[in-house]
Amino acid sequence: MEERGYQLLDGKAVSAQMKQEMADEVALIKADGGKIPHLAAILVGHDGGSETYVANKVKTCEEIGFKSTLIRYENEVTEEELLRKVNELNNDPDVDGFIVQLPLPKHISEQKIIEAIDYRKDVDGFHPINVGRMSIGLPCFVSATPAGIVELLKRYKIETKGKHCVVLGRSNIVGKPVASLMMQKNDPGDCTVTVCHSRSNNIKEMCLSADIIIVALGVPEYLKADMVKEGAVIVDVGTTRVPNASTKSGFKLTGDVKFDEVAPKCAYITPVPGGVGPMTIISLMRNTLLAGKKVIYP
Ligand code: GUN
Repeated sequence: MEERGYQLLDGKAVSAQMKQEMADEVALIKADGGKIPHLAAILVGHDGGSETYVANKVKTCEEIGFKSTLIRYENEVTEEELLRKVNELNNDPDVDGFIVQLPLPKHISEQKIIEAIDYRKDVDGFHPINVGRMSIGLPCFVSATPAGIVELLKRYKIETKGKHCVVLGRSNIVGKPVASLMMQKNDPGDCTVTVCHSRSNNIKEMCLSADIIIVALGVPEYLKADMVKEGAVIVDVGTTRVPNASTKSGFKLTGDVKFDEVAPKCAYITPVPGGVGPMTIISLMRNTLLAGKKVIYP
């Protein structure tokens, strides 16, 4: 069998470039005496993954030149108290956009919190108004992971028109919105999209006919070589922290793709880490910049 040379979709490099572009723009805003974009983040509890994500968001804000505010609560915070804070941020003219890091403790309704956020400040793009506007192709905040995936495909000039794109996973945060973007009349977009999930019967057959596979299941090394056609484009959204004694942190960030066996069959593939992860954070920054400039909702 012919062995292809595959190309990495280097999210780390692309996000670094986007970061520089945004830092340059913020420097210009500053020089003109304009308003510096301000992102606030609410973090509840001490989940390791959430701590890392939020710390990275705050650090990236600083690197670009945005203002950022981190608001912390213990796990015992009430829904009422959290809703009060959301309302306060909605009405704070200095805050351009804010996020509530998920997941939240079980006694708090995530949906209630999300719907309490003013959609014009919802830089996560989770509010039903933003989700709905995205699905019909209107200007909106697109959630960060789907936006990052599409931007990565765009910057590598991956041809998507007329291709069969299989999305594995139907979450509200990744699977559903990325399927919607990939089918949209756009570039990237114009794909024939199939969404597979835990109740699908013929996942392997679907994957074997796919030109592009976006895997967002959260199942480490789920996608194997015998599920992938030669020359496919693979986007791995998985970031499971698998315990590993040989690393300093005690875990290894593991994707949903069995990289070593799948990569040789691919035209393009994202690494984990360094693929979708950095694109997600930088897309949140992009939304923060758009919120600061009031371009989507003037
Ligand atoms: N938890 C996992 N991904 C995300 C995200 O993109 N935003 C927020 N707020 N929470 C998350």
